Amino acid sequence: MDTLTLTRPDDCHLHLRDGPALAAVLADSARRFARAVVMPNLRPPVTTVAAALAYGERIRAALPTGADFTPLLTLYLTEATPASELRAAKAAGLVGVKLYPAGATTHSDAGVHRLEAIHPQLDVMQDIDLPLLVHGEVTDPKVDVFDREAVFIERHLAPLVARFPALRVVLEHVTTREGVEFVRAARPGVAASITPQHLSLNRGALFEGGLRPHHYCLPVLKREEHRAAVLAAAISGDPRFFLGTDSAPHAQTAKESACGCAGIYSAHGGIELYAEAFDAAGALDKLDAFASRHGADFYGLPRNTGTLRLRREPVPEPDSLPFGDQRLVPLRAGGQLAWQIAA
Ligand code: DOR
Ligand code: ZN
Repeated sequence: MDTLTLTRPDDCHLHLRDGPALAAVLADSARRFARAVVMPNLRPPVTTVAAALAYGERIRAALPTGADFTPLLTLYLTEATPASELRAAKAAGLVGVKLYPAGATTHSDAGVHRLEAIHPQLDVMQDIDLPLLVHGEVTDPKVDVFDREAVFIERHLAPLVARFPALRVVLEHVTTREGVEFVRAARPGVAASITPQHLSLNRGALFEGGLRPHHYCLPVLKREEHRAAVLAAAISGDPRFFLGTDSAPHAQTAKESACGCAGIYSAHGGIELYAEAFDAAGALDKLDAFASRHGADFYGLPRNTGTLRLRREPVPEPDSLPFGDQRLVPLRAGGQLAWQIAA
């Protein structure tokens, strides 16, 4: 099978940034995906419905002419988020509320310090059926960076899912065997998104022949056994697992630095990278549901009706892409993608 026709997919976890960065990256996502769940970790963070709707307008205004792409907006949860804002979010069609433990990742400093402090908000979200999207890592410096997801699940996520039994929860960018097993065993209403890098790379990719800042993201790449578990979940056909690229652009200078930013840009290969991983695993027949149905069904959205055709034919990746007045180094820079979009 050298061509593959998919239902138009959805990216259930995407960073689009704002201003010139947004203008530089948006076309890559819009060319591939019908919709994307857009993360709210801007500076300042998107903590109000008014800010989210204004951001949605800026995204629409930055779309190339003729593009058919719908941003699915989210709210950034803080300990001060009022119940009224959550109700307004639901009424305005926002699809979820993002929980960043304070200090866990890029622009998370306005996030949540103590999970107990947001129990009132979670109560409301459970009542109105507004999903919680979780960056699942502890920030405790005593916990090894490679263990932060597993420890978060044990200490925080498992109790939270039990305490709010009707709250819909996405463990975003699952990276570990423990994460996959947790979601598989969880009650209905618990799901996980999966990135292309956690499907195809293990932590060795951070140190291949030298330090590789463009393979650095959070949660960080894990051991091979975890990559294998994440891949097995993705190709299993289990509807709890769906596509979320976590494409997170940072300027080349901010990545290639003494203290480089976390985030991998993958929107330029946002579906092709998954096709390659599913193909290598002999599971291309499972890609359509993973990319186009499971996410829509979880979010209660209509499934997309259009199609996207892919062709198995290598395409070289440039060393970098324009990014406002800077440059952006994409995943596979200087290498190639095994699949491409058929015109
Ligand atoms: O690597 C990451 N980059 N992980 C995140 O959670 C945030 C993201 C970003 O916004 O750059
Ligand atoms: Zn993210």
